[in-house]
Amino acid sequence: MSKTTHELPQGIHEIRDLPDPQLSAMWNSIVIDESQKAQLLSQAVVNFTVRPKVDRSVLPLHGVILLVGAPGTGKTTLARGLAGRVAEIYKAKGLRLLEVEPHSLTSSAMGKTQRAVSELFSQSIAESAMNGPTIVLLDEVETLVADRSKLSLEANPIDVHRATDAVLVQLDLLAERHPNLLFLATSNFPDAIDSAFTSRCDLVMKIALPGELACEQILTACLDGLGKTFPAIGKLTGSNEFKRCAREFVGLDGRSIRKAVASALASSPQVAVDPNQLTLQHLAQAASSSKAHRNVGAKA
Ligand SMILES: Nc1ncnc2c1ncn2[C@@H]1O[C@H](COP(=O)(O)OP(=O)(O)OP(=O)(O)O)[C@@H](O)[C@H]1O
Ligand SMILES: [Mg+2]
Repeated sequence: MSKTTHELPQGIHEIRDLPDPQLSAMWNSIVIDESQKAQLLSQAVVNFTVRPKVDRSVLPLHGVILLVGAPGTGKTTLARGLAGRVAEIYKAKGLRLLEVEPHSLTSSAMGKTQRAVSELFSQSIAESAMNGPTIVLLDEVETLVADRSKLSLEANPIDVHRATDAVLVQLDLLAERHPNLLFLATSNFPDAIDSAFTSRCDLVMKIALPGELACEQILTACLDGLGKTFPAIGKLTGSNEFKRCAREFVGLDGRSIRKAVASALASSPQVAVDPNQLTLQHLAQAASSSKAHRNVGAKA
């Protein structure tokens, strides 16, 4: 069960008790190489099964996994799903997931970000770890660990500098004291992350854009889902032309693929009124138009 916002400490926007079937469904919904999923899951489980039992001088694990990749490639969903999946395999009592909202920590007031970051790690997160194994989602981690070597003298850099310092200090302290803590961090901007943070990660995994087969699988999942309500849409995946249509989606991230399906449903007032009239042509057209817009965005 998740807690409501008013009970939560600053910087944490959700606390969920694990396992949570909703999260496990997220894990299954993300199409990436099975070998990548296996590596992620093993690294996360080792954190709880091995790390607490072995001295840090033998295995210097920090309990941090970082997922990097373009927007919409499924990093946040995968991280939440991973938490759910770990809980199913490593059946520890009291395992929970804390979701950090980094933007609520950053402040324009001098010194406030650093204080908020220190409090979050040394109080809220440490307290949770004392009560039982804890997974912490650090979404968009580049906002918390900005690369100090790239900070310009504009926009309060000293404060950002100190926030990065504070996170690094706290991560070292937590790694020392709480081996039952696992951080799952995500970022679209790996180049903006301080290298001292990356160096503390036990695993950095790049999530790429889906390839041809993955596009086909994501599209199939999306159309099958719609097929539960609009049966004719569910039948489109059985067509001989389906594979060719799916190839049109190569180059898009998972989020854009699902959005392109939504756009296809809005191709014309007729389809919008009766979604069962959706065709593969509508889908292919929506995919190429999404790619065209993507390129415009990339050039802007
Ligand atoms: N590989 C994938 N397979 C299936 N669905 C995907 C995939 N990638 C993304 N999606 C879908 O796209 C949506 C957005 O995913 P998510 O928010 O996890 O991406 P993200 O990488 O965290 O994006 P951002 O970097 O913008 O935060 C989700 O609904 C997710 O299910
Ligand atoms: Mg995300």
